[in-house]
Formats: sequence, structure tokens, C-alpha cells
Amino acid sequence: MTQQQPNSDPPPYGVGDASFRAAGEETGIQRLVEAFYAEMDSLPEARRIRRLHPRHLSTSIDKLARFLCGWLGGPKRYAEKYGPISIPRVHRRFPIGAAERDAWLLCMERALADQPYPAAFRQYLLVQLQVPAERIVAACAAERD
Ligand code: HEM
Repeated sequence: MTQQQPNSDPPPYGVGDASFRAAGEETGIQRLVEAFYAEMDSLPEARRIRRLHPRHLSTSIDKLARFLCGWLGGPKRYAEKYGPISIPRVHRRFPIGAAERDAWLLCMERALADQPYPAAFRQYLLVQLQVPAERIVAACAAERD
């Protein structure tokens, strides 16, 4: 008789809260976002996008960490504190084109490299983040027309 083995593989990233867990839940996401803004603060390539942000980054850190928490399948912490959000809409007032998108993604790539994540998860996240980043570029271009 063949015995049924329980499937012990974790669900793939993007299913349920698999991404939230892979990111180290709220503590891991907070670390990632702090590393992300530290990169933005220091990378010459990010100087222009850094200038679009407030001088003190604590609210920016809080907002992005809370947003990513829900976006990765965890609790909806952004909505709890700040209410509903449309990512393209909140960025429309900024001059964000391909160069700004690339600078933002570069900060994220470098921040991800510092985290104790599996390489496959780092790669997955960077690819997924390109989706809202592209939507922002499109929304900002439409705003300029
Ligand atoms: C494409 C390049 C991007 C640039 C240049 C950019 C820049 C900015 C700027 C200047 C702000 C306002 C300052 C602040 O409130 O902290 C902001 C806010 C924010 N961004 Fe981005 N951003 C980009 C992409 C993204 C992406 C891909 C996400 C999400 C995955 C994101 C999530 C947020 C959130 C949650 C806020 C706070 C919105 C609010 O509550 O007002 N951003 N971003």
C-alpha cells in the first residue's frame, strides 16, 4: 500500500502570507524598509528621489513598512493607521519617470541584499515591486499630459 506523505513544501511566494513570512514578518519588513531608506539617504544615484521626500524619514519609513506588510499578504497595517491608499494616486504629484523608478528599485535591490532572505525571495520581490513602480511612472506621465 502506498502511504500518502503530507506535503511539507511551503506555499510559493505570493500565496496567502508566504511572502510576508519570507520577509521576516513585521520585524523583517521594518528592517528592510530602514535599510531601503538608508540606501536612499546615501546613494548618489538616489539624490533626486531623496529630495522628493521629507527631511526626516520616520513617517516615510512607517508608511512604507506598513504598506508592504499588507501588500506581502500580512496584516493591513497601513489602512489601520492611515486609511485606504492608491499607490499610483499618492505618487501622481511627484516628477517620477524611468530614472526615478530605477533609482528607487536600486535602493530596494541594495536593501534586499542586506537581508537574510533566500536569494529566490529577493529576486521575486524585486520583480514584483516593478509592477507598482511601473504604474507610478504611468500615472505621473498621465498627470503631465
Ligand atoms: C517608482 C519610484 C518611486 C518613487 C520615486 C517614490 C517616491 C515617493 C515619495 C516622494 C513619497 C512621498 C514621501 C512620503 O510620504 O514618504 C512616497 C510615498 C510613498 N510611497 Fe513611494 N515612490 C516610488 C515607488 C513606490 C513603490 C513601488 C511603492 C510600493 C510598493 C511605494 C510606496 C509608497 C508609500 C506607501 C508611500 C506613502 C504614501 C502616503 O501615505 O502618502 N512607492 N513615495
